[in-house]
Amino acid sequence: MIITIDGVAGSGKSTLGRMLADRLGLTFFSSGLLYRLKGLMASRGENIALEDLVKKGRFRIKKDGVYLDGEKIDDVLQSEEVGKWAAKVAKDPSVRDEVNATLKLLAEGGNFVVDGRDMGTVVFPNAKVKFYIDADVMERARRRVLQLGLEPTEEILREFAEKIAARDRADKEREIAPLKPADDAIIIDTTGMTPEEAVDIMEKHVMKHVPRVPLQAFAQKTIGPILRGWFRMSLHGRFPKAGRWLMIFNHISGWDPPLIAMVSMPRQIEYMAKKELFQYPILGSLLYKLGAFPVDREGKDVRAVREAIRRLRQERIVGLAPEAHRSYDGKMLPWYPGVSYFVVKGITPVLPVAIKGLEGGVKWRDIIPGMRKVKVGVGEPVYPRDLYPHRDMESALELLKERVQMLYDSL
Ligand code: DC
Repeated sequence: MIITIDGVAGSGKSTLGRMLADRLGLTFFSSGLLYRLKGLMASRGENIALEDLVKKGRFRIKKDGVYLDGEKIDDVLQSEEVGKWAAKVAKDPSVRDEVNATLKLLAEGGNFVVDGRDMGTVVFPNAKVKFYIDADVMERARRRVLQLGLEPTEEILREFAEKIAARDRADKEREIAPLKPADDAIIIDTTGMTPEEAVDIMEKHVMKHVPRVPLQAFAQKTIGPILRGWFRMSLHGRFPKAGRWLMIFNHISGWDPPLIAMVSMPRQIEYMAKKELFQYPILGSLLYKLGAFPVDREGKDVRAVREAIRRLRQERIVGLAPEAHRSYDGKMLPWYPGVSYFVVKGITPVLPVAIKGLEGGVKWRDIIPGMRKVKVGVGEPVYPRDLYPHRDMESALELLKERVQMLYDSL
């Protein structure tokens, strides 16, 4: 899922974007940072191609900020001086093209909340949800003055308001990529709203685009509490509330898929399950209704891969156990290499999940509730962009395996 946030300067776009992404479990990125990075380089008389930085693995987006060659650069980029250079280079059409192409590279696979001036209109016209944030000039002046720790006297406020109004005009009247709401943008005026109130509204809009599997959601509500108590389940980390994810997990028992689904609320997980299960008359149709779909584990099952891609494009979570067979002692078995295809091809980010506590499978003694303690861990996602500089099937497989193994060991 790609969510764009455009709007006037000082409207709080990036604060809202960061909060929204955090609530939903998605990545936030501010497109202004790339203009600022180009500006910083211009100020040093250097010029490095942005796409190259991404493809060589030199530019990374992490949870706490952006990194260049392993160094966090957010603060440097936010300086007033770099901002001036950024405004200058942002007028150059070739810089705009370069930034836009780089943004698309960073957003590959989706689950990206991005803010800027032309995200919904120019760069991501097909974004699932587009916001346009507006706020009264005086209110923006007041926020800025308070942010700088100044006394909000009438004179200072007026001075700031004039500057902001001039910037609005420059943004809206410029020739290339002028600031304007996309036709399908949701316009939110944050005047008089707290950031929480604005994000509540935004989250509600996004959640309308998150598909549900009704029968599984019903099971989560009804059988969920019973199973969670029975197996004394605990969740470590959290499931993203929105977006497409290929959820991969270690396989220790036939109970892994249903148990993981009992802690993934508000999301449901659509499992790729062995086709043999669908041959039983009642179980088969029940599994379909629960969102599962069949895969033939012998050879390449192109149909199952296509079905997975179709569901991912609808912003669903597709679950699969790359080991394909259960490991009875918790030691991971060889993986089907196919899983890495989805992320190497840029179709989806991957959500590593680990389950612990049911090694050896469910036994008769488990008829008594509370005999087991099952832990489910949700790890840091792997995005297609994270694979650079070695974006190939083999390296991706190694990375994914390592992530699941580390997560399992940490439980
Ligand atoms: O939002 P910001 O202050 O970090 O943006 C830095 C500069 O880049 C600013 O002059 C506006 C420009 N910019 C742009 O032209 N288009 C965008 N999508 C984002 C930023």
